[in-house]
Amino acid sequence: MILKNHVAVVTGAASGIGQATAVRLAQDGADIAILDRNGDGLAATKSLVEETGQKCLPVQVDLLERASITAAFAEIEQVLGPVDILHNNAGGPARSGNKPFPKAPAEQWDEVLVLNLRSVADCTREVISGMKERRRGRIITTASEQAFKGGAGFTDYSAAKAGVLGFTRSLALELAPFGVTVNAVCPGAIKTGLTNAMPDEYMERVVASIPMGRLGEPEEIAHAVAFFASPGASYVTGSYLLVAGARTLH
Ligand SMILES: NC(=O)c1ccc[n+]([C@@H]2O[C@H](COP(=O)([O-])OP(=O)(O)OC[C@H]3O[C@@H](n4cnc5c(N)ncnc54)[C@H](O)[C@@H]3O)[C@@H](O)[C@H]2O)c1
Repeated sequence: MILKNHVAVVTGAASGIGQATAVRLAQDGADIAILDRNGDGLAATKSLVEETGQKCLPVQVDLLERASITAAFAEIEQVLGPVDILHNNAGGPARSGNKPFPKAPAEQWDEVLVLNLRSVADCTREVISGMKERRRGRIITTASEQAFKGGAGFTDYSAAKAGVLGFTRSLALELAPFGVTVNAVCPGAIKTGLTNAMPDEYMERVVASIPMGRLGEPEEIAHAVAFFASPGASYVTGSYLLVAGARTLH
């Protein structure tokens, strides 16, 4: 139980990668706060976390609303105590579907950037001063292989995820003197609600482009997050881990 007496927060934890990470960090002994706008999914994740014997606090919140984020973190600190690990995971492409840049309404940029990038900064802001004071903390972001390779029809999403990497590296420099680490996990194509929502023909092309010949499982990302959260990663900061079945390498 390497994370015994630790409190971890996972955003976007009602499904997919966030749900798998919440369970994985609980298996390592952390108590978990889970944030999402999907109340039913939060209840499902809570049950899975509690099966590990750890505490779980679900907080239903829309991460596009800054004031709700502040209230959520106040509740977490009051119920579970100070946050040791933050996995900034919530995100995804435009809900209305991906479109070539000239066809994407300007409002879509706002939505995608606020969810994938601004909410990462907003959640991080809530935990940073406590982590600095205690000289202990792990911040992990979920970027994407798209931060490197881009994707036609995903200009907003790719830009936001590249921004997440820039944020991760810059914050790692600011927090290094305090012993707080900041790292990113960069998933390839993973079997979650996000890829489920893509058209079948598109996903067939995606799978054909993956040297490992299959989509990744959410648990395969959760393991990478658990590494960054673990005591063994104490000297790893400003780094990213690509978990993408070699898709970005050609
Ligand atoms: N699945 C992939 O192939 C893949 C690849 C690269 C990166 N990612 C990233 O992984 C992260 C997790 O995605 P996933 O694949 O598990 O997808 P998912 O759709 O299963 O999970 C995303 C979660 O975020 C929540 N969410 C979305 N908008 C929200 C909001 N405004 N407020 C609160 N919660 C909100 C959703 O309810 C959902 O539970 C995202 O940042 C995504 O961009 C996924």
